[in-house]
Amino acid sequence: MCGIVAYTGIRPALPILISGLKRLEYRGYDSAGIAVETKDRIVIRKSKGKVKELSGLLGEDETDLAESNCGIAHTRWATHGPPTTENAHPHAGGKNGIALVHNGIIENHRALRDKLTAAGYLFLSETDTEVLAHLVDSLYQGDLLDAVIAALKEVEGTFGIACMVHAEPGTLIVARRGSPIVLGVGENGTIVASDASAIIKHTRQAIYLDDNDVAQIKGSELDIRSLDAGSVSRQPAEIDWSADAAEKGGYEHYMLKEIFEQPESIRNTLRGRLDSNRGNALLSGLNLNPRELAELHRVLIVGCGTSMNAGLVGEYAIEDFAGVLAEVEQAAEFRYRNPIVNSSDLVVAISQSGETADTLAAVREATDKGALVSGLVNTVGSTIARETGRGVYLHAGPEISVASTKAFTSQVSVLLMMALKFARSRRMSRDAGCQFVKEIKAIPGLVERVLEQNDAIAKVAERYLDQTSAFFIGRGYMYPVALEGALKLKEISYIHAEGYHAAELKHGPIALLEKDVPVIALCNDGPGKDKTLGNVAECQARDSRVLGIVTEGDSEAIATVDDHITVPACPLHTAVVPSTVALQLLSYHIARLKGCSIDQPRNLAKSVTVE
Ligand code: M6R
Repeated sequence: MCGIVAYTGIRPALPILISGLKRLEYRGYDSAGIAVETKDRIVIRKSKGKVKELSGLLGEDETDLAESNCGIAHTRWATHGPPTTENAHPHAGGKNGIALVHNGIIENHRALRDKLTAAGYLFLSETDTEVLAHLVDSLYQGDLLDAVIAALKEVEGTFGIACMVHAEPGTLIVARRGSPIVLGVGENGTIVASDASAIIKHTRQAIYLDDNDVAQIKGSELDIRSLDAGSVSRQPAEIDWSADAAEKGGYEHYMLKEIFEQPESIRNTLRGRLDSNRGNALLSGLNLNPRELAELHRVLIVGCGTSMNAGLVGEYAIEDFAGVLAEVEQAAEFRYRNPIVNSSDLVVAISQSGETADTLAAVREATDKGALVSGLVNTVGSTIARETGRGVYLHAGPEISVASTKAFTSQVSVLLMMALKFARSRRMSRDAGCQFVKEIKAIPGLVERVLEQNDAIAKVAERYLDQTSAFFIGRGYMYPVALEGALKLKEISYIHAEGYHAAELKHGPIALLEKDVPVIALCNDGPGKDKTLGNVAECQARDSRVLGIVTEGDSEAIATVDDHITVPACPLHTAVVPSTVALQLLSYHIARLKGCSIDQPRNLAKSVTVE
């Protein structure tokens, strides 16, 4: 949510800032701005819209801008105040020529605004960030680091910030609480960003700030303090994915590239984690000894959006195979409803970004309640990964498209491995474990078979473009797939879509079915299929056109539905993955044919770091 980039060093700052912003644009893209230091002053340029609108404002002949070696930049996802040029960051603070960019929410902004207004400060925007810029200015007495520390002590809420003042050339102050800040340390200077994707082009050495860290940066020199504890030392970590991994690689959209990467990303997720001889999964990062495994009372899975949908597959598989109580819960609800959690519970926080505010808050609540807390995270070094300390990285590579695809299939793959591991620590036999290992290892090949049908799925998509509403139905393992299919369709094509348990349709939603309201039914061969086909007939009797996801060669299902996409025959717990990939492609093609902004859908942000 919002992207921050900043640079200080000996290289021209502007190209670094603009290319970094482009890299972070998936975090927010309703307005963008930069501030760069020149000889006489700090120049701020900002604009409504995407980074390319901002680039258009930077004249090629402006040598003072082009020669600057220090600046800050921001791409915004609006929280306080609509996406206008005035509300875009950077915001200038008072008379001292302070410029500041911010990601997060200053919760006591109203009280601070009243205080600063009474002191004579004039506000030009509706943002909480401008409050912070003026607050820093009001406390500035010649040392920006001191002023920022003093200001942050007055602030309630979350922030990732970068700020500069004209009187201290080449100096940046950055800080974080709740919103990530990474420092890319190189010989020619330091690049600051909200995530590592903006810095890998320049350096692989990254320092992830902790909550309440404040850093003063002068070129490559860092002075990191903690708001609570004075000077602190933070060690650099190596970023292990390449710049190429974050490029489109010839695909029209990141989403399509990421859909097609799935055989490989799942293989990376599984690599070295399955033992075919012992019929078990390794997952050493969970750091559970045999006794803890055997005594595990309950697995509580928390996440948001797609990650929560993956969690539901985990709930089913863990109960199904391991006989361990499992529950999935919306992370947003977790800390507010005072859940019953104790030390024999394993809480699994699922998050692609590792920065989702509600999931992070659930992690903290579960930690306070004494549970074993683990992270199932894609982004290495992210806050959830660091705060949980134990868990399983997805190794799916960077996911840039706002619509999550490869993260989901890797999350499901890890959850199946967890189910296997828990099952083997209980009643599952070695033979049954070996069979499960085989089934999991087959997943990438199943996905390849769905990807081969890309053109056919694009043709099917043509028949579902013009509808304004759609229902996705499934039962058992296919119920979470229905939820995920509906989420994908609505977020990128803006077609209103709902996922329902196939049996639940009759309890209300069926009232909405009519000719132009199609139903996408997960009719995979396995337990429950006959009942779902019965539900399909009920939908058709209400004039809905039904697109079935069916198992290859299942002539009964093919004859029942109006259109179909096939997935290879496999057990339902693994059919989740190829079936979801089929729905990802369906949504992608519908959105493409409708001309939607696929990688950056309206109103969304990749990483939701505010509540
Ligand atoms: O980074 P996270 O996995 O924690 O993100 C959770 C959701 O915000 C995310 O899955 C969201 O629902 C996606 N845009 C769905 O495609």
